[in-house]
Amino acid sequence: MRARAGASRRATHGRAPVRSPGPRWWQRGVIYQIYPRSFQDSTGDGVGDLPGIIQRLDYLRWLGVDAIWISPFYPSPMADFGYDVSDHEDVDPRFGTMADYDLLLAEAHRRKIRVILDYVANHTSDQHPWFLASRASRQNPTRDWYIWRDPAPDGGPPNNWRAVFGGSAWTLDAATGQYYLHAFLPEQPDVNWRHPDAREAMLGVLRFWLDRGVDGFRIDALRHVAKDLRLRDNPPNPRYRPGDDPYRALLPRYSTDQPMVYPLVAAMRAITAAYGDDRVLIGELYLPIRRLVTYYGRRGDGLHLPFNFHLLDTPWGAQAVRRVIRAYEAALPAEAWPNWVLGNHDRSRVATRIGAAQARVAAMLLLTLRGTPTLYYGDELGMANVPIPRDRVQDPFEMNVPGKGLGRDPERTPMPWEPGPGAGFTSGDPWLPLGADADRRNVAGLRQDRRSILTLYRRLLALRRRSVALRTGACRHVEARGGVLTYIRGSDYVVALNLTLAEQRVELPRLARGGRVLLSTHLDRSDRAVPRRLPLRSAEGVVILCCRGS
Ligand code: NOJ
Repeated sequence: MRARAGASRRATHGRAPVRSPGPRWWQRGVIYQIYPRSFQDSTGDGVGDLPGIIQRLDYLRWLGVDAIWISPFYPSPMADFGYDVSDHEDVDPRFGTMADYDLLLAEAHRRKIRVILDYVANHTSDQHPWFLASRASRQNPTRDWYIWRDPAPDGGPPNNWRAVFGGSAWTLDAATGQYYLHAFLPEQPDVNWRHPDAREAMLGVLRFWLDRGVDGFRIDALRHVAKDLRLRDNPPNPRYRPGDDPYRALLPRYSTDQPMVYPLVAAMRAITAAYGDDRVLIGELYLPIRRLVTYYGRRGDGLHLPFNFHLLDTPWGAQAVRRVIRAYEAALPAEAWPNWVLGNHDRSRVATRIGAAQARVAAMLLLTLRGTPTLYYGDELGMANVPIPRDRVQDPFEMNVPGKGLGRDPERTPMPWEPGPGAGFTSGDPWLPLGADADRRNVAGLRQDRRSILTLYRRLLALRRRSVALRTGACRHVEARGGVLTYIRGSDYVVALNLTLAEQRVELPRLARGGRVLLSTHLDRSDRAVPRRLPLRSAEGVVILCCRGS
């Protein structure tokens, strides 16, 4: 897509669009998610910040990632740790200054690392000036920038919708006598995207950061942005069991994934497109595959990458993973580019979900599948969830719906950089506890260890970088036998992953026979002339370069 003529003034700000043939950077590259509170603290207050990220850019370059997505750092009362934005166009002092942001962008770009920001589209903070004005009176011109309704006849909320973080999705404002809608916390009122001025203001946020040279956005909570016009009650979920997450008691039929979202996505895409086709739009969408792929849109009016979270929930077994890969590949519209995610700041860490040994297999899977991988900070160290003592819980989800394992603090703990107090993350008290294994499992130590998971990640990233077939080649013959998953990438590589803890002998595709093991998850073999039936150890994965490959 070309920069539109009318947008050329803006397009000259920040980075000028450059057109080069072939796949875009966000198709070839690997994205690394940084949760800024937990990456690197430069001030000693125990909370990570933007100057801290700058200090660690050389590490990211060494690791070999192509882009960073930074979770929100905008001014915020931190009711949801930055996902409650009170000013979309500034930096919270806890994270630094706008000058720090500009420097971070410049330093990242100098190292050929792109920067993706979080765009919190569905809601603002209740302390955002827009909401303060909207709440001030029913007559305020910004009243309808948010979703206000009269109470039901019994005085209760206008419908039965639930908030993701517990309780009703409606909060009564006693002063004006109406309820406002919030998909998440009461401190996160939902923006009314049907109001033209609210919509323009929200779209203006994209332009603001594009003008400052950002390379793309991850759109937060996108499935919530559009609501049923009549705000109908959600139906009960027949599969709900007492004791489950209470949000799941209802099917979010009328509160999420509504058709009105597509024109909004198209408007976002038109704005980014005006800055050239190197600015990427990624959407956070927890949806079944058949719904997820509709967000690619048609003829360039959708997302570049609707986040594919299906590996987060798929049971870890060769058959199940094979089914997901096949179903996803089959559902992708023509021209749509796939993507895969193993972890993020809302989900249990992969090493905890499937164990340390299989986390290495998962790394090989993620980095050899077709499609853009997104890594979650610390997964390259094999970090596991850190148990959080009750008196140190921070996440409002855990506070509101306690004891169900829904809290997200365990996967948000500080990055361990080196042994010692503070683990090189902070000189003060970290806002969340460090893992008990931080003295052993840290960047400095694992970097020296030729067999570490960090070394494995780095070698996988390097292999992917130098191989066109791994980056953009087709993914064919996805098979599962005896707990081993195999697939072919391009016409050069066969990947065989033992998703069990038992030894396996895998029947390799004909193409692989006589090929050479380029990389094993165990980092200790480089067999030449692999046999028809290749022995794989417990939780071993291999990438085989076939004879035809180069
Ligand atoms: C999804 C984000 O990933 C999560 O961390 C946040 O709490 C909600 N959206 C609300 O913004």
